[in-house]
Amino acid sequence: MTSQESDPRVVVIIPTYNEREALPGTLDRLRRSVPGADVLVVDDASPDGTGEWAEQLGERDAQVHVLHRTSKDGLGRAYIAGFGWALEHGYDLVVEMDADASHRPEELPRLLEAARDERVALVIGSRRVRGGGTVNWPWYRQLISRAGTAYPRLVLRLPVKDATAGFRAYPAWVLRTLPLDEVESHGYAFQVDMTYRVHRMGGRIVEVPITFVERVEGVSKMTGSIVREAFVNVTRWGMQDAWRRMRRQASDGQSLAR
Ligand code: GDD
Ligand code: MN
Repeated sequence: MTSQESDPRVVVIIPTYNEREALPGTLDRLRRSVPGADVLVVDDASPDGTGEWAEQLGERDAQVHVLHRTSKDGLGRAYIAGFGWALEHGYDLVVEMDADASHRPEELPRLLEAARDERVALVIGSRRVRGGGTVNWPWYRQLISRAGTAYPRLVLRLPVKDATAGFRAYPAWVLRTLPLDEVESHGYAFQVDMTYRVHRMGGRIVEVPITFVERVEGVSKMTGSIVREAFVNVTRWGMQDAWRRMRRQASDGQSLAR
């Protein structure tokens, strides 16, 4: 770390749906671990009052902001709205983090450290690199998560070990470069979608090991349709990718024949 001026302005975006139980503890730990970072809670009108609670906290803590959305519209949509807010407000680094402390706030400084390298386009807090892992995840979640990475590695040639990971840091220039209004994935497919886009723009992706700890408060919002969306989207992108490759090879062949 050099002078105060050179420290990047960081915002941690936390999407919430019914996280009234889990959010307070997570925010408390986050504010302590990285006091310089601002927070943006993006709440989808949670019936349990998460949004109102965050609003009240924001009145006491000027570094906590809240974006209220009108209905539950998926993690992806919430993040896109949050990214727009973060770019408008001039942040340099945009972090994604779950509300349930599965992403341990104490590990965030290591992600931020990796993001200091200007050539890095995406830092992933990864469960699947040496030193990373999961705690208290049932076997079926392990399986879904492993398949969720193995499949895009295979069909999209995505060189990432944890493509669905939700603990990340993006430099603002990357979010400004990507066509965010074209990202249509709603659920956790959003994470793969964004990873694939960064990869295709030639961005350098770094995976930092983290330990994902299954939540003790509240419940997961994972559903069958979220898994299905991820599978369908990755398959479609893979086919588009294969089609582009074939066309390129065909036109290369033609120009050789000429
Ligand atoms: N605003 C909003 N709208 N937030 C949502 C929505 C939604 O529709 N759905 C989920 N969230 C929020 C939750 O409130 C939580 O803060 C975060 O998104 C993650 O949701 P969980 O339900 O806790 O996810 P998980 O633990 O099952 O899944 C984790 O693993 C996935 C697969 O690796 C997360 O880390 C995901 O990001 C990851 O893709
Ligand atoms: Mn969770």
